Amino acid sequence: METPKRAGDAPIALDLKAGKRYSWCSCGLSKEQPLCDGSHKGTNFTPILYKCPEDETKWFCTCKATNGQPFCDGTHNK
Ligand code: FES
Repeated sequence: METPKRAGDAPIALDLKAGKRYSWCSCGLSKEQPLCDGSHKGTNFTPILYKCPEDETKWFCTCKATNGQPFCDGTHNK
Protein backbone atom coordinates (compact mmCIF):
# COMPACT_ATOMS: atom_id res chain seq x y z
CA MET A 1 0.00 0.00 0.00
CA GLU A 2 1.25 3.45 -0.87
CA THR A 3 2.06 5.87 1.90
CA PRO A 4 0.62 9.38 1.59
CA LYS A 5 2.98 12.34 1.46
CA ARG A 6 3.09 14.39 4.64
CA ALA A 7 1.74 17.72 3.43
CA GLY A 8 2.03 19.65 6.68
CA ASP A 9 2.84 19.53 10.38
CA ALA A 10 -0.36 21.09 11.65
CA PRO A 11 -4.04 20.98 10.75
CA ILE A 12 -5.73 23.67 8.67
CA ALA A 13 -9.03 25.21 9.79
CA LEU A 14 -11.71 25.83 7.19
CA ASP A 15 -15.01 27.63 7.62
CA LEU A 16 -17.50 25.25 6.01
CA LYS A 17 -20.94 25.97 4.61
CA ALA A 18 -24.02 23.84 5.31
CA GLY A 19 -24.88 21.40 2.53
CA LYS A 20 -21.61 21.87 0.65
CA ARG A 21 -19.31 18.92 -0.14
CA TYR A 22 -15.60 19.10 0.55
CA SER A 23 -12.97 16.76 -0.90
CA TRP A 24 -10.10 16.21 1.50
CA CYS A 25 -6.77 15.31 -0.08
CA SER A 26 -5.68 11.88 1.18
CA CYS A 27 -2.52 11.57 -0.93
CA GLY A 28 -0.72 14.69 0.29
CA LEU A 29 0.16 15.86 -3.22
CA SER A 30 -2.44 18.61 -3.58
CA LYS A 31 -1.19 22.18 -3.82
CA GLU A 32 -4.55 23.30 -2.37
CA GLN A 33 -4.15 21.69 1.09
CA PRO A 34 -6.10 20.38 2.81
CA LEU A 35 -8.40 19.89 -0.17
CA CYS A 36 -7.98 17.80 -3.32
CA ASP A 37 -6.78 19.47 -6.52
CA GLY A 38 -6.71 16.29 -8.63
CA SER A 39 -3.00 15.62 -8.10
CA HIS A 40 -3.79 12.07 -6.88
CA LYS A 41 -4.32 11.03 -10.50
CA GLY A 42 -2.07 8.04 -11.22
CA THR A 43 -1.84 7.02 -7.55
CA ASN A 44 -3.99 4.60 -5.55
CA PHE A 45 -5.42 7.47 -3.50
CA THR A 46 -8.82 9.09 -3.84
CA PRO A 47 -10.15 12.10 -1.97
CA ILE A 48 -12.37 11.66 1.08
CA LEU A 49 -15.70 13.43 0.71
CA TYR A 50 -17.28 15.31 3.59
CA LYS A 51 -20.76 16.78 3.34
CA CYS A 52 -21.11 19.55 5.83
CA PRO A 53 -24.40 19.37 7.81
CA GLU A 54 -24.26 22.94 9.12
CA ASP A 55 -22.09 26.03 8.97
CA GLU A 56 -19.06 25.12 11.06
CA THR A 57 -15.30 25.42 11.40
CA LYS A 58 -13.38 22.15 11.09
CA TRP A 59 -9.69 21.33 11.43
CA PHE A 60 -8.50 19.21 8.51
CA CYS A 61 -5.49 16.91 8.73
CA THR A 62 -2.41 17.77 6.66
CA CYS A 63 0.02 15.14 7.98
CA LYS A 64 -2.25 12.51 6.35
CA ALA A 65 -1.73 10.11 9.27
CA THR A 66 -4.93 10.88 11.17
CA ASN A 67 -7.19 8.03 12.21
CA GLY A 68 -10.17 10.34 11.91
CA GLN A 69 -10.09 11.29 8.23
CA PRO A 70 -10.53 13.95 7.09
CA PHE A 71 -10.07 15.71 10.41
CA CYS A 72 -7.07 16.16 12.67
CA ASP A 73 -6.87 13.78 15.63
CA GLY A 74 -3.52 15.00 16.94
CA THR A 75 -1.46 12.25 15.28
CA HIS A 76 0.88 14.87 13.77
CA ASN A 77 2.32 15.40 17.28
CA LYS A 78 3.31 11.73 17.77
S1 FES B 1 -4.89 15.61 -4.66
FE1 FES B 1 -4.63 14.30 -2.94
S2 FES B 1 -6.45 13.09 -2.94
FE2 FES B 1 -6.70 14.40 -4.63
